[in-house]
Amino acid sequence: SVQSAVRRSNYASSTRNFSSSASNPERKVTVLGAAGGIGQPLSMLMKLNPLVSTLSLYDLAGTPGVAADCSHINTRAQVSGYMEDKDLAKALEGSDVVIIPAGVPRKPGMTRDDLFNINAGIVKNLCQHVAKHCPNALVNMISNPVNSTVPIASEVFKEAGTYDPKRLFGVTTLDVVRAKTFYATKTGLSVEEVNVPVVGGHAGITILPLFSQAFPQANLGEDDIVALTKRTQDGGTEVVEAKAGKGSATLSMAYAGAIFADACLKGLNGVPDVVECSFVESNVTELPFFASKVRLGVNGVEEIHGLGSMSDYEKEGLAKLIPELKSSIQKGIDFAHKN
Ligand code: NAI
Repeated sequence: SVQSAVRRSNYASSTRNFSSSASNPERKVTVLGAAGGIGQPLSMLMKLNPLVSTLSLYDLAGTPGVAADCSHINTRAQVSGYMEDKDLAKALEGSDVVIIPAGVPRKPGMTRDDLFNINAGIVKNLCQHVAKHCPNALVNMISNPVNSTVPIASEVFKEAGTYDPKRLFGVTTLDVVRAKTFYATKTGLSVEEVNVPVVGGHAGITILPLFSQAFPQANLGEDDIVALTKRTQDGGTEVVEAKAGKGSATLSMAYAGAIFADACLKGLNGVPDVVECSFVESNVTELPFFASKVRLGVNGVEEIHGLGSMSDYEKEGLAKLIPELKSSIQKGIDFAHKN
């Protein structure tokens, strides 16, 4: 047909644009919540990623439009949109990576935990489908509160008999993105070259940037470190307040989500030394889940890095965050069992 000829020629020209895609294996990426504030720009960024061969978009509403729109971009990925519950099987089958930004975002005055009642149920339901239709996929959990939704997902997968801790990730990349930006701005270093590990969890004081390990090191005073730490921890709230009721971070989150999904794909494809911070099952601390630097590989998590040497201020921050993170994790586990 004319349409498939057009598709073939688009494909040919896109493989010319991305010369690397010829040697890249087929990879299916699915976005659950694809028509939302994060879902739309994230879907676009995944359509631009030459490592993606199939892009599957699912949402309760609006996906046909987002999918049609994205599908006109002349890149490798073939796009399909799904909207009905009964289509979730097709949306998920064969997925290598499933990204979950489904759920409600914060409004001014809300904490991430205030989202728990709505998002916990959404995440539980979607993860049951993931367990059924693509149990081997790497799951990138964006829906908040990440500190609880990741434990919920783990319990759902355990219940289904599909849990592999190497394949479940809470996406904390936005905390790293913010720490890098704020650190570079403060120090005058080039933002492209800086790196800052962020450990702990993904809410308020559980977000612990380790500026003592920032690269390159700059001579910042204690006051500057305290201010940078607070700004990183409150970065989400800064956006929520600026948007004044119209949601939370979407564009920077889509960017961060695309970086993390790309790292997962690179790991799956055997690219060496792919390291990102992520909230994963971990024995780096006494807590069952913790965010730290993770090396990604063909099976997902290949190696979890320890915390490294920390300043006294960071050690204090770690001690303070443990009880809060512990109770958020427990809240997720309890929800999964009770509901
Ligand atoms: P949004 O409300 O704009 O979009 C959410 C989308 O999810 C909507 O299109 C909605 O139809 C869809 N949805 C709801 N229930 C669904 C279901 N059962 N199946 C499929 N789709 C469903 O919200 P936004 O701004 O995109 O935020 C999404 C989530 O991401 C929120 O929970 C937010 O708190 C979280 N978030 C996480 C960040 C992180 O760093 N991990 C940063 C920013 C936001």
